[in-house]
Amino acid sequence: MTETSTLERALEALTGANRLVVVTGAGMSHDSGVPTFRDAMTGLWAQYDPHELASEDAYRRNPARVFGWYLWRWCLVRSVEPHPGYHALTRLEAGTDDFLVATQNVDGLHSRGGNQRIVELHGSLTAFRCFDNGHPYDSAKLESLTALSGEEVEPPRCQECGSPIRPGVVWFGESLPQMAVKQAWSAVAACDALMVIGTSALVYPAAELPSLAMRKGVPVVEINPDLTPISHEVTVSWSERAAVALPALVDRLIQ
Ligand code: APR
Repeated sequence: MTETSTLERALEALTGANRLVVVTGAGMSHDSGVPTFRDAMTGLWAQYDPHELASEDAYRRNPARVFGWYLWRWCLVRSVEPHPGYHALTRLEAGTDDFLVATQNVDGLHSRGGNQRIVELHGSLTAFRCFDNGHPYDSAKLESLTALSGEEVEPPRCQECGSPIRPGVVWFGESLPQMAVKQAWSAVAACDALMVIGTSALVYPAAELPSLAMRKGVPVVEINPDLTPISHEVTVSWSERAAVALPALVDRLIQ
């Protein structure tokens, strides 16, 4: 199957869809130069197990190590730009009545790329809050801070209660934000097509969303250079990078 004919099949599956859900994962950010969680564990971070950097226990044991890791990743994310695939999704949102991006990414690139209807199932690197009471903490106050690879950074304190500040991401062992889950599942229940982009479709519950759409019988288009466990079940599996496939697709869908 040539790439052109895969594009035509994706167009056929999505033309006329007006209640669209787009599920994204780390592969969407990859073309902007954001490493996955595990790929980011290079250099001095490589010595740690993921649970030592991304769990409540780890934060209690060593808040400066965990805060340093997230500050470093936040700095990295701020240094990259959303690729053309993000801008394509923004054009798609503008041309669709009901639209939702349900992302597993915490890097905020969908918002920087211009999308407005987004749920962040695994939280956000930018949404800092205090550890004890969840008071929001203005990330602008952290913009002057930097972290080097492997560097521990003492977290600042909440101005309301003095508790240390943590990132607003979902750590191992934590529940997903209930509002985000509710919105994503309702959108899929009502959608007439779904796109799944740059996710290995292995991490639940987000991996459940494309399956739910398939069970409903609506078209599901996957964009991923590699095969995933759902590639053989979706309506169209397009073996292409997000930054290439999305602009080509949306240019033809929205004219
Ligand atoms: N365009 C599209 N897809 C890509 C690209 C690209 N340029 N590059 C890589 N991919 C695909 C890979 O083939 C892989 O299937 O993106 C997928 C990334 O898979 P994972 O790294 O497992 O990321 P994700 O599915 O988002 O993982 C879910 O797991 O590590 C946790 O919390 C983390 O949110 C993450 C969750």
